[in-house]
Amino acid sequence: MSTTQHATTCTGTEEELIDRIRTLAANYKGKEGSLIQVLHMVQGVYGYLPLHIQQIVAEELDLPLSTVSGVVSFYSFFATKPRGRHTIRVCMGTACYVRGGVSLVESLEKSLGIQAGGTTSDGVFTFEIARCIGSCGLAPAMTIDDTVYPEVKAADLPGILEPWYNDGK
Ligand code: FES
Repeated sequence: MSTTQHATTCTGTEEELIDRIRTLAANYKGKEGSLIQVLHMVQGVYGYLPLHIQQIVAEELDLPLSTVSGVVSFYSFFATKPRGRHTIRVCMGTACYVRGGVSLVESLEKSLGIQAGGTTSDGVFTFEIARCIGSCGLAPAMTIDDTVYPEVKAADLPGILEPWYNDGK
């Protein structure tokens, strides 16, 4: 039996996950304004919201798929592709931008072998660009999950990334 693993703690076969999603969404049928809440919970179960999962939510809530897809694409906290276990965000706010943010992005793209917005093929990192993260005095800054790294230089990257392959330990 095949087991589907997603970036969240929820595991199970694809059929089990879809059953849970159907039951969960069906509980909210006819409850106005519940779509975002349902999508959050479904993303928690499945890990992300690909089109076939959006279709199931639309069916269970009795909404057009275009309504569900519109909400998913509008909010950045909804993902339509699987995410990595850890999220790297490089700040491209003004201070970080002028103090080396661009070359930091380029160095990370090279180290990870992906473009900003992508996820590494081993599923460890999703790499994104962020707006100011409030550490402007320590620009250029980046974060991995909730850890802030100040004044990052390209040469620091191997040492910063390394522990995260072991989940930050
Ligand atoms: S501009 Fe990067 S932390 Fe503020």
